[in-house]
Amino acid sequence: MSEDRHPFLQGLSKHRGAPPTIIVIFGASGDLTARKLIPALYNLGLDNLLPGDFHLIGYGRKPIPDEEFQADAEKDVNEFSRRPLNPDIWPQLKANIHYHAGGYDDPKAFAELREKCLDIEKKAGRDLQFVFYISTPPSVFKPILENLGSSGLAAHGKGTPLASKMIIEKPFGRDLATAQELNQIIANQFDEHQVFRIDHYLGKETVQDLMVLRFANTIFEPIWNRRYVDCVQITVAEDLGVGTRGGYYDTSGATRDMLQNHTMQLLALTAMEAPVSLGAEDIRDEKVKLLKSIQPLRLDPKDGDAVRAQYAEGLIGGEKVPGYLQEKDIPATSSTETFAALRMSINNWRWQGVPFYLRSGKRLARRVSEIAIQFKQPPGGLFTDPSRFDMAANTLVIQIQPDEGTTFLLNSKIPGLETRTQPVKMHFRYATTFGSNTPEAYERLILDAMVGDSTLFIRGDETETSWKLYTPLLEYWEECGRKGLDSYACGSWGPLSADRLLWESNHEWR
Ligand code: NDP
Ligand code: BG6
Repeated sequence: MSEDRHPFLQGLSKHRGAPPTIIVIFGASGDLTARKLIPALYNLGLDNLLPGDFHLIGYGRKPIPDEEFQADAEKDVNEFSRRPLNPDIWPQLKANIHYHAGGYDDPKAFAELREKCLDIEKKAGRDLQFVFYISTPPSVFKPILENLGSSGLAAHGKGTPLASKMIIEKPFGRDLATAQELNQIIANQFDEHQVFRIDHYLGKETVQDLMVLRFANTIFEPIWNRRYVDCVQITVAEDLGVGTRGGYYDTSGATRDMLQNHTMQLLALTAMEAPVSLGAEDIRDEKVKLLKSIQPLRLDPKDGDAVRAQYAEGLIGGEKVPGYLQEKDIPATSSTETFAALRMSINNWRWQGVPFYLRSGKRLARRVSEIAIQFKQPPGGLFTDPSRFDMAANTLVIQIQPDEGTTFLLNSKIPGLETRTQPVKMHFRYATTFGSNTPEAYERLILDAMVGDSTLFIRGDETETSWKLYTPLLEYWEECGRKGLDSYACGSWGPLSADRLLWESNHEWR
C-alpha cells in the first residue's frame, strides 16, 4: 500500500488542522448534503477546524446561482446544525461557497470545474488540495470517477501531501462483483491512500470508543474470549420506516443498507485483535483479518443462519402506520427485507464456538443500536433457587445510540435480613459525563478526509471481504423471492423466526 502521505497526515487524529482545501460535493442539491454535509462543514468552521483557505463548490445538474446555493446552505444550517448559526462566522464561510452546474457524465463540465478550481487556487496564491465528495445515487459514481480522471482533477497535487482526495458514499456496490468493479474504477483514477469510503457509523463517538474501551482498559482483555463470553448480540434497530427513500430502499433492503456495512463494522471492532498501532493500516488489517475468519452463512431455510422479514401494518408510538408494501414507491410484490437477523461464527482462537447474533430492521419498537457481550454463568450451584435468587448473565452493553454509554449488568444481594438477589446495572452515560452536544459523525469524517487520515474509512479489501460473506445469502434470497420471507408488525421487535436463531443455543435476544 502506497504511503506517500506527509507524516503528520497519518495515524488516528494526532493532527487536526486541515491543509488549504477546495471541497467539491457532487449531488449538492441532495438530502445528505442538506441534512449532514453542510451542517458538518459549518460546525467545523465554528470550531476553527477549517483551513484559512477553504472553499466549497456544490456540483449538480440543475443550474443554480451561487447566491441561491449560499442561501440554501444557510437554511440547512438553520434547520439541521447541532449549533445555531453564528452571524460572526457565517459571512466568511458563505463568501467561499460556490456552485457549478453540469452533468455527471459531461467531460466539458468537468473541464470547466477544473478551471474554476485552478482559478480559486490562483487567487489564493498558494497550493490547495482538492477533495471530491461523491454524494449522488450510485448510478452515477462511475461517470463521476472517470471524469475526475480524464479532466486531470484526480491527479491534482499527485505525489505531494496535497494530493487530491475522494470521499465516496454508500452503497459501495450491491454484491462482491459490483464492489470489485467499483474498486477497479476507483483504482484507475486514485491511489488507495487518496480514497475515503464512508461508513458514517465509524464517525460516531461511541463506535470510536469501542477501541478505547477494549484496549485502554486492562480488565476486559482477559475475559474477551470464548472462555468467558457466551454470546454477542448486535442490534441496530430503527423505528422509522423507509419514508421518502422507498425507490432506493427497495433495491437495497436491510441487509445491504445496514448489515453488510454499519453492523459489520460494529462486529469487526468488537471482535478483532488489538492492532499493532493506532495507524490506519494496522487497524484496518485487523478488521480484515477478523472478517476473513467469519464462516460462510448456512442458507438452509429451516435451520440456517439467516432470517428476513418485511414490516406489516402496526403501531408506532400509539399511531397506526402502514406496512412496507403500502409505502410510496414500493411495488406490491416486493420481496425486499426490512429486517434481517443473522448468526455468525468466527473461526479463530478467540471466538471459536461463540455465536455472534446480528439484527437490523426498520419500524421496530424503538431506535436503538447496541452491542451486548453476554458472559457465561458462574459455575457451582450456590444461587440456583429461583424463589430467592433472580439471576441474570453478566452482560456488558455498549449503547451506540441513543442514550450513548456503557452499562454493566451484574447480580447483587437485595438489602435485608435474608439472602436474596436481583440483577442490577452500573451505568456510564456520555451525556452526564461529557455533555450531549458532541460532534456529529460527518464532522469527524470530513475533517479526517481533509487531513488525509483514513483510519475511520473502509479499505477496498475490507468491503470486498464483507461482500464475499453476504453475496451468497443475497443471491439465495433473490432466487427465493417472497418464499420464506417472514413478516412482523410495525412496533414489534421483528419476527418470531429471528428468536429461533438464538433458541437453538439456549439464548434469547435482550
Ligand atoms: P439524493 O437522492 O438526494 O440525490 C443527491 C443528488 O444526486 C440529487 O440532488 C441530484 O442532484 C442527483 N441525482 C439524484 N438522482 C439522480 C440520478 N438518477 N442520476 C443522476 N443524478 C441524480 O441522495 P442523498 O443525498 O439522499 O444521498 C446521496 C448519497 O449518500 C447516496 O449514495 C446515498 O446512498 C448516500 N447516503 C444517504 C443518506 C441519507 O440519509 N440521505 C444516508 C447514508 C448514505 P442534481 O439533480 O442537482 O444533479
Ligand atoms: C443509512 C441508511 O446508512 O443509515 C438508512 O441508509 C438508515 O436507511 C441510516 O436510516 C441510519 O443511520 P443512523 O446514524 O441514524 O443510525
